[in-house]
Amino acid sequence: SGPELAAVVANGTIDVPDFPKAGIVFKDLMPLFADGAAFRRVVDGIVARYPDGFDVVAGVEARGFVVAAAVAYATGTGVIPVRKAGKLPRKALSATYALEYGEATLEVHEDAFIAGQRVLVVDDVLATGGTAGAALDLVERAGGTVAGFSVLMELAFLEGRKRLAPREVHALLTV
Ligand code: PRP
Repeated sequence: SGPELAAVVANGTIDVPDFPKAGIVFKDLMPLFADGAAFRRVVDGIVARYPDGFDVVAGVEARGFVVAAAVAYATGTGVIPVRKAGKLPRKALSATYALEYGEATLEVHEDAFIAGQRVLVVDDVLATGGTAGAALDLVERAGGTVAGFSVLMELAFLEGRKRLAPREVHALLTV
């Protein structure tokens, strides 16, 4: 159930104060990834959210790769990595977004998606929504159709969901 899944995510998360910089409380979901039963439950929870299915899963570097690969395997679909700038070997599309200080860029191969392919985009955490917004833009610019955006944890106070509107966002746990 929803509350049970939220508890699984909460129990698998360690709050790390002042990482990566002073004043930020980092949400470390690696204990969740390391717990086989918990990891399977959250992956199955994401899959269950999309009864109409999807054709491929896009994961956002780096922790989104972990979630994306598992969701893809569970559904017999494939994985498209959305990477940080400069990592992809072939011609890529880029999307730059604002960070608290400065900016960052995500990229995807221009031929990553078949036109109209239904793409589930996943990541571990939705914070300000900058990363997710860039990833969703890239999927659409590369010809994919966003079937949904799922995260394990949403930090609601940062209002990332507003930046992604009117797109649908699903979080197993909202804090
Ligand atoms: C974290 C997290 C999301 C993003 C969310 O990734 O995994 O991708 O930040 O933040 P936002 O909503 O404010 O954009 P990070 O940039 O730490 O990259 P990493 O997974 O490669 O360490």
